[in-house]
Amino acid sequence: MIQVFPDFEALSTAAAELFIYLAAQVLAVGERFNVALSGGSTPKRTYELLGEPTFSSRIPWEKVHVFWGDERCVPPDDPRNNFLMARRAFLDKVPIPPSQVHPIQCAASPDRAAHDYEKMLSDFFDGESPRFDLVFLGLGEDGHTASLFPGSSAIGDVGRWASAVHVRGQDISRVTLTPLILNQASRKVFIVSGEKKARALREVLSGPYDPDRLPAQAIQDEDDSSLIWLVDKAAASLL
Ligand code: 6PG
Repeated sequence: MIQVFPDFEALSTAAAELFIYLAAQVLAVGERFNVALSGGSTPKRTYELLGEPTFSSRIPWEKVHVFWGDERCVPPDDPRNNFLMARRAFLDKVPIPPSQVHPIQCAASPDRAAHDYEKMLSDFFDGESPRFDLVFLGLGEDGHTASLFPGSSAIGDVGRWASAVHVRGQDISRVTLTPLILNQASRKVFIVSGEKKARALREVLSGPYDPDRLPAQAIQDEDDSSLIWLVDKAAASLL
């Protein structure tokens, strides 16, 4: 399903409202709302809204558990760090118990961090394959999502839940959840904004299926409601 919003603020507001709606839906029948955040710049406004009283007061933070779909392997105080971005945007402003925030800490060793994250996920999900209630995802201009970049071996890595990624041409390594885990989420919500993403969005949604070239295509719609695209008009301009 794809929803087009007039501008970035409306898009970000819709994403924050969806977070609240899904949390209420899940917690009406369960005890935990498990969400994996995306990084980058697009979701920052959504996260800031979640930190504002009009939004945060509507979320039972004591039942929310926050994970990450990917992380850049930089020091925790590096502005590129996805955990730092989310902390500043909302996590440090809401009453979520620190033990319920599960960052990927990979600055020292991406490979070790990927294995450690898998162990943490296994413990958290009682040895079952992780099923997040919500995964937020972004889209790169090259069609990547999370840290699944074109040609990455992590795209087809069915044996792993999290993989270390060393991106050619980028000076940093990353850790990413694999398509196996991302696809198991009850809701996979892309937040895509801006003219620069228009070509990639059209390619991913309407182009031939080629997840190796367009990794965002690896995120599949298990049924007709698990995959949601929230986009603004500028990003949708070529659809
Ligand atoms: C990351 C993200 C990545 C991001 C896209 C889009 O850690 O970089 O998870 O997948 O969503 O690169 O980034 P922007 O939102 O900054 O355009």
